[in-house]
Amino acid sequence: MLSRRMLLGTSMAAFSGLRAEGAAAGLRAISAARGVLFGTAAGSYQLRDGDFQAALMREAAILVPEYEQVREAIEPEPGRFDFAGADLLTSFAGRSGMAMHGHTLVWYAANPKWLDEKVAHAPDDEIFTTYITRVMQHYAGAYRSWDVVNEAIWPQDGRGDGLRVSQWLKRFGPGYIDTAFHVAKLADPKALLVYSDWGCEGGEAWNDVFRAKTLAFLEGAKARGVPVEALGLQGHLNAFGPPVDQAKLRTFLDRVKALGLKILVTELDVDDTKAPREIAARDAAVADATARFLDVVMDNSATAAVLTWGLSDRYLHKPEWLPDYTPRKLPLDADLQRKPMWNAIARAFGRRV
Ligand code: G3I
Repeated sequence: MLSRRMLLGTSMAAFSGLRAEGAAAGLRAISAARGVLFGTAAGSYQLRDGDFQAALMREAAILVPEYEQVREAIEPEPGRFDFAGADLLTSFAGRSGMAMHGHTLVWYAANPKWLDEKVAHAPDDEIFTTYITRVMQHYAGAYRSWDVVNEAIWPQDGRGDGLRVSQWLKRFGPGYIDTAFHVAKLADPKALLVYSDWGCEGGEAWNDVFRAKTLAFLEGAKARGVPVEALGLQGHLNAFGPPVDQAKLRTFLDRVKALGLKILVTELDVDDTKAPREIAARDAAVADATARFLDVVMDNSATAAVLTWGLSDRYLHKPEWLPDYTPRKLPLDADLQRKPMWNAIARAFGRRV
């Protein structure tokens, strides 16, 4: 089991010159002072933007490919692998002293069009075990952690165990998750293996069920000796929807920690679509939702990393159904200026701002 300090590892050494002093200090240094890695999702095309690259260097200690490591991007045709995009991000991170988080190896979504048919008629589990091994060994030793299985829980599908009735479950049964983690451990023994999902954050009745099923899955995996080493809490919040129930989240995360698991926030962003158009009010609500969530997460010593699902609003897509709305879901605005959400994250790491 990686310690918090080990998780920081090279990241600490690489930017030992950075200090969490002065207004210039980014979330990379501020979070390190707290013994946590802060980072973000990115696309390799964004590295062509010099100002954005500088912002990434200042703010991020760990990167995750937003899209370029899903199977649709990596294996567009059977047996044809395209690592180019994720390689660019991985090289940039290596040159910048950043760690990498991999996303994702087994998911019901973002698969190439040819896959589902092959899964349905697969003679054995090599359709995913060989893929896991191939991708993880391509990056072996360079990745701090991996989302091995993503979003496999969906109680709304009606199963007693709360698992999503995906193409993987239909063909291989619930054991596909255990197999995926065992194979991942063999492929890169040094990587922290993460189960990632969304639905454990909220305060509604369906979130209560989601948390219960997630805990049951994690407890079962531990009892079976499955190498699930961390929970990836995606952290897709809503500034104007039902708020996070801090008491329920705290109890849940205490139970996760008691299982000996690390906690990573893997995709933090705050939806503000139902917001007033007035920017200050939107930004304040986004910051409040961020603080409400991270205050609980950062109270738990098993928390090892917090990644946002993008660093700046600059690269957010406008939803077609809201033509006159520009999302403001992330820590920096489109001009790479710090927003109240950035302050909320810095405060969660113990910085007075
Ligand atoms: O890059 C291609 C482009 O070449 C092509 O012309 C265009 C037209 O289809 O598609 C582009 O790819 C899109 C890609 O994002 C990059 O922008 C895909 O269509 C689109 O499906 C893909 O969406 C991503 C989605 O996951 C599915 O992979 C989003 O960017 C990404 O933010 C979203 O992230 C997910 C996490 O992986 C899992 N958790 C939920 C989270 C939010 O939905």
